Amino acid sequence: MDREIFVNQLIRWYSHQKRDLPWRRTNNPYKIWLSEIILQQTRVNQGMPYYLNFVDKYPTVNDLAAAQEQEVLRLWQGLGYYSRARNLHSCAKMVVGEYDGQFPNKFEELLKLKGIGRYTAAAIASMAFNQVNAVVDGNVYRVLSRVFGLYDDIAETKSAKVFEKLANELIPKDQPGEFNQAIMDFGAIQCTPKSPACAICPLSDSCYAFNKGETEQLPVKTKK
Ligand code: ADE
Repeated sequence: MDREIFVNQLIRWYSHQKRDLPWRRTNNPYKIWLSEIILQQTRVNQGMPYYLNFVDKYPTVNDLAAAQEQEVLRLWQGLGYYSRARNLHSCAKMVVGEYDGQFPNKFEELLKLKGIGRYTAAAIASMAFNQVNAVVDGNVYRVLSRVFGLYDDIAETKSAKVFEKLANELIPKDQPGEFNQAIMDFGAIQCTPKSPACAICPLSDSCYAFNKGETEQLPVKTKK
């Protein structure tokens, strides 16, 4: 697959198929951060009411930082993984205490915050600040391994580097946030783990896995 064709087709697909989600209508880093933390282990449909509640109750990072932890945990009830809620609160306090209430705009700086790993840092940097940092998660592994024919075992930690390198070579400098959201949605809606929708896929012509009949084999994942 030609890289330029991939990027263009992916973004074109996204412009037609993208899900209209509230955190996509903003470039407020606080709201983008909140949505990404909620969605870390939670599906969009389940996370949505929580996101709306949090934004309603705590419209700014200052409001969240000033809240009682008990209150935050109560709003989180039902989402599970309560360490996420505690980290959320700690992170808000860090942003207020150490960054004057402004989320840092660089990937490396975002990584220093409580509860923010590489994926979340890249999501915030690209979507709120137009920084050229690619997100890498299971969706990205699946899409890139299939389209480009990468057999790196995603159960191996060293493979993350391979996918992250490729994603960062692909991400367009003029629309990094669009690219990241596009690949997320493409993996979630089109290039799904089971029965991907290859019959209606705009990338199938030059998709490695489709042409080889290997969509079931890719990505390679040895251990559970
Ligand atoms: N899952 C994680 N981040 C997401 C986002 N920004 N939009 C939709 N689903 C997501």
